[in-house]
Formats: sequence, C-alpha cells, structure tokens
Amino acid sequence: MFQRHILTADKAANNAAFLENVRGYLVKELPAMTNLANFSALVAHFFPNINWAGFYLYDGTKLVLGPFQGLPACTIITLDRGVCGHAATHRKTIIVPDTHAFPGHIACDAASRSEIVIPILQANSLFGVLDLDSPDLDRFDQIDADTLEKAVGILVDNL
Ligand code: SME
Repeated sequence: MFQRHILTADKAANNAAFLENVRGYLVKELPAMTNLANFSALVAHFFPNINWAGFYLYDGTKLVLGPFQGLPACTIITLDRGVCGHAATHRKTIIVPDTHAFPGHIACDAASRSEIVIPILQANSLFGVLDLDSPDLDRFDQIDADTLEKAVGILVDNL
C-alpha cells in the first residue's frame, strides 16, 4: 500500500522520497498508460501548491491529453502552441514563472499562474511532455526541473 509522505520544508528529502516512489511504482512489464497514471498521481502527491500534473502524448503529429491529476484539460495541443508545444518542439524543459507573460500560453485552468513542462524523449523520438501547473507565481525552480527530469528518465526506462 502507498505510504503517504508528509511533506516538510526539506525539499531535498521530499524529492528523494518522490524519486524513490517513482522507482518503486513504475514497472516495465506494465502498459505505459498504467505507469503514466501512477506517475501523475505521485507528482500530485509530492509537489505542493500545484493544481495540475499530467501528460500530453505525441501521436506523430500533435500532443494528445494523457493521464493526469487536476481539472479536465485541453485535449489537443499542436506543436506550435502553448508551453507544451514549445517544450516538445525545442526538446527542452521550460519553466514559466508567470503564465500571463508567456506568449501563446494555453490556459486550461484560469487559476494556473506558473508552469513547468518537461519533454519526454524515447530513443531520441518525442514521446510526449510532462506538464505541471501551479496557482502560485514563480512556483518552479531549477531543483524542481532537475528532479522531474530525473523522474522522467526513470519513466522512460520503464516504458
Ligand atoms: N498550459 C499548457 C496547456 C496544458 S494545461 O496547462 C493542462 C500550455 O500552454 O501548453
């Protein structure tokens, strides 16, 4: 059974516990959708002050909504649109401290004020993106980016 982690001010400890759970819950033999679903639940549990966490998966042309935690969201994002499209196109993690200041930001939830998107590459091919939104301005920093990139690395090893 999942052991609830009590988040503390010790971000390094929270991140270590998050990565340990990611390693523990992902199973290569399971369908990708199963791993993506548990991954999004782990992100939602371990990252405080977020209102959305989940995946957009690349279907060869566009990004399509995958497993997530949060309010119902936009289902299709083309690669030329939004923070997700930008991260997918440039294959680079993007931290948006203020969503209102990002040209082309797609507002799925009006409450979202900052965002981080991590591209997911599988053998150099685009698999999709991991997207986290927060109602707080400037919620995400480089430590979050490093931790989420590590977690995405573990995810890719289990796809
Ligand atoms: N804000 C994203 C769209 C997805 S939602 O945040 C869930 C974007 O600009 O690509």
